[in-house]
Amino acid sequence: MSHTPQSPSSASPPESSAPTGTTSTRPTLPTHSRTAKDVLAELAAMRSRDARWHDGRTFSLVYHDTDEHLQLLRDAYTMFLAENALNPMAFPSLRRMETDVVSMCAGILGGDDEVVGSMTSGGTESLFLAMKTYRDQARKERPHITAPEVVLPTTAHPALIKSAHYLGVKVVLVPPGPDFRADVAAMERAITPQTLFLVGSAPAYPHGVVDRITELSDLALSRSLPLHVDACVGGFLLPFVRKLGFPVPPFDFAVPGVTSMSADLHKYGFAAKGASTVMYRTAALRRHQFYVYSGWPGGLFGSATVLGTRPGGAIAAAWASLTALGHEGYLRIAGIIMKTTRAFIDGITAIPDLYVLGQPDCGVFAYASRELDLMAIADQMEERGWHIDRQQLPTAIHLTITPTHAAIVERYLGDLRDSVAYVAEHPELSSQGAAAMYGMLMHIPDPSMVDEFILSNFDSLYRP
Ligand SMILES: Cc1ncc(COP(=O)(O)O)c(C=O)c1O
Repeated sequence: MSHTPQSPSSASPPESSAPTGTTSTRPTLPTHSRTAKDVLAELAAMRSRDARWHDGRTFSLVYHDTDEHLQLLRDAYTMFLAENALNPMAFPSLRRMETDVVSMCAGILGGDDEVVGSMTSGGTESLFLAMKTYRDQARKERPHITAPEVVLPTTAHPALIKSAHYLGVKVVLVPPGPDFRADVAAMERAITPQTLFLVGSAPAYPHGVVDRITELSDLALSRSLPLHVDACVGGFLLPFVRKLGFPVPPFDFAVPGVTSMSADLHKYGFAAKGASTVMYRTAALRRHQFYVYSGWPGGLFGSATVLGTRPGGAIAAAWASLTALGHEGYLRIAGIIMKTTRAFIDGITAIPDLYVLGQPDCGVFAYASRELDLMAIADQMEERGWHIDRQQLPTAIHLTITPTHAAIVERYLGDLRDSVAYVAEHPELSSQGAAAMYGMLMHIPDPSMVDEFILSNFDSLYRP
């Protein structure tokens, strides 16, 4: 949870056309047109309170390589800003880019020429589509499944749980082993005749460790079950980390039981936002992903993914990112990330109270505290200008390292040492600020009360 309520903007559009007689202070559509200069100036002003990702102050929200690369993404995106990938016949350029992108991804993820896939708007959509594919495959090929289930480690991304919720699939959650990797024996015990498929992550977001994909593959093959590997976060990093000589456990299509994968272009693919891939070992499997409806007066309807209209810009920017960086660029980036991650981990573990959870496989990891209140430390870090990703079960601070962070390691570690020392001297901080809120939420025994808190928070966040 990294959402906190913000006070509403004081800016309101000039000369609004609010119905007369009302006292509403809601922003409404301006009566008169405004100049582009005026509008852009207001947009620029609105950014002033945003998180300072360009200074390396955020972790996980923005994946930035160089300003030159960002400019390429902008140019490619705007070139195809108006085009719509809804109709692959109208824009053969986008169809070509999409099939190129999927093919390049499959290539770096151990896929052969049979592997097919789609570009999607992000990891969530990729996971949703994988879940829909297995549900619909079972409807056709395993009709005994009437109450479908999916077995996944508790560390798997909640987008899977959300997808299962939307698609009427029961989630069977299995805690990982003490090293935070999937507990394959426990997952085996969780399989029932209603199981649709198994899930492993490469890596799982919370602790940055790759699940035991080879063992999960053996299990899946022995039980004739599909296996999805969620490489949303690691798909464009792990292959290059391995090439650099770091030990990366097998996780991709080279493992025989892996039937589908997701890999996000807008994370370590360094593409523009709104770009991910979902891939299947065979075209026959992907057919269950497509949706067709031939009875509509508006025409014969077919849709490859969840979205109808699909932004051409995201596809063009992803194609541009992959082709501009190439193996050479991704290797360079992976080298920077691994070196920077080492520097962070060494600095964090040199602070006596702190330790890293598990043995992270790439640039994603979390650290915890032995004695002190880590949420109070997080508050202190935020006071020093860092945007902190907080975790629970166990309480931890999460870092997602990108090239932007190479320049700020020492500043972060200095602030962390100061924050730890300050919290050690001020135990009363546990009952103040966000630390108090997290402390309270993490000790509420009834999860529905925590859900209610999050709902109310969202309710107020999304008010004008
Ligand atoms: C492992 C993993 N899968 C899926 C997702 C969801 O991706 P998105 O936010 O692009 O929907 C994330 C996001 O962090 C992730 O870490």
